[in-house]
Amino acid sequence: MLEFYLMDTLSYHIRPMRDDDIPQVSEIDREAFPAESLFRPYTSYKQEIHNSVAHYLVACTTDKPDQGNWPKDGWFKRISRCLPAMPFRMPTHGGHSREYVIGFAGLWVMLSEAHIIAIAVRHNCRRIGIGEELLISVIGLATRLNANLVTLEVRASNRTAQELYGKYGFYVSGRRSAYYSDNGEDAVLMSTEDIWSPLFQTRFEELKEAHNQRWKAR
Ligand SMILES: CC(C)(COP(=O)(O)OP(=O)(O)OC[C@H]1O[C@@H](n2cnc3c(N)ncnc32)[C@H](O)[C@@H]1OP(=O)(O)O)[C@@H](O)C(=O)NCCC(=O)NCCS
Repeated sequence: MLEFYLMDTLSYHIRPMRDDDIPQVSEIDREAFPAESLFRPYTSYKQEIHNSVAHYLVACTTDKPDQGNWPKDGWFKRISRCLPAMPFRMPTHGGHSREYVIGFAGLWVMLSEAHIIAIAVRHNCRRIGIGEELLISVIGLATRLNANLVTLEVRASNRTAQELYGKYGFYVSGRRSAYYSDNGEDAVLMSTEDIWSPLFQTRFEELKEAHNQRWKAR
């Protein structure tokens, strides 16, 4: 498990994806990237999980509404918006603890470059810091794997994602014309500066601390 993150009495954590997460991850993928699904087969997560350059993380919660530990206010009110969308069955697979996956991130690391394949959060769980926590974890992972740069491509129209990446110092490094086959949309290429530079590291630590303070306090 890479990170553990507490919010009031409700917690979620980020850990590497396992085989038994694949149905939930595929569900989030379909919901988050519906246009891609028309033109490409969904990423074969079974293959990805055993691909040595691929690293997938999931954000998941083990809390259950009937455990009496769900706060009445603050974060619970926010996450409770997820509940109607969740058929609230906590999956049990192979004796593993029951966990509900609320987001995932995928990273490919080749030589000194880490490339973000995707970051996605369940629709009704957005805007409560989970996407940012996944990005923090992915950058942390890239650092541990000795990458120097983190890159990605994103739809030109996806301002939400560009805001998230921009917050963490990603700049626009190029554009691929008509990259997306469903609507001919351009891809915007984004990249960090050297993630080992003191400037990047200092800013990254500040952003992590701010995120922790903002969401932990609720
Ligand atoms: C992009 C995505 C992962 C963000 O997840 P999230 O959990 O809602 O994001 P967070 O709550 O952690 O927000 C973090 C930052 O993202 C940006 N952001 C998130 N939602 C935003 C919105 N609706 N409008 C503008 N900026 C937004 C902001 O910079 C925000 O920081 P702030 O709260 O200080 O303003 C989510 O919207 C998603 O799953 N989208 C569909 C999949 C996708 O497009 N993935 C990215 C391409 S790989």
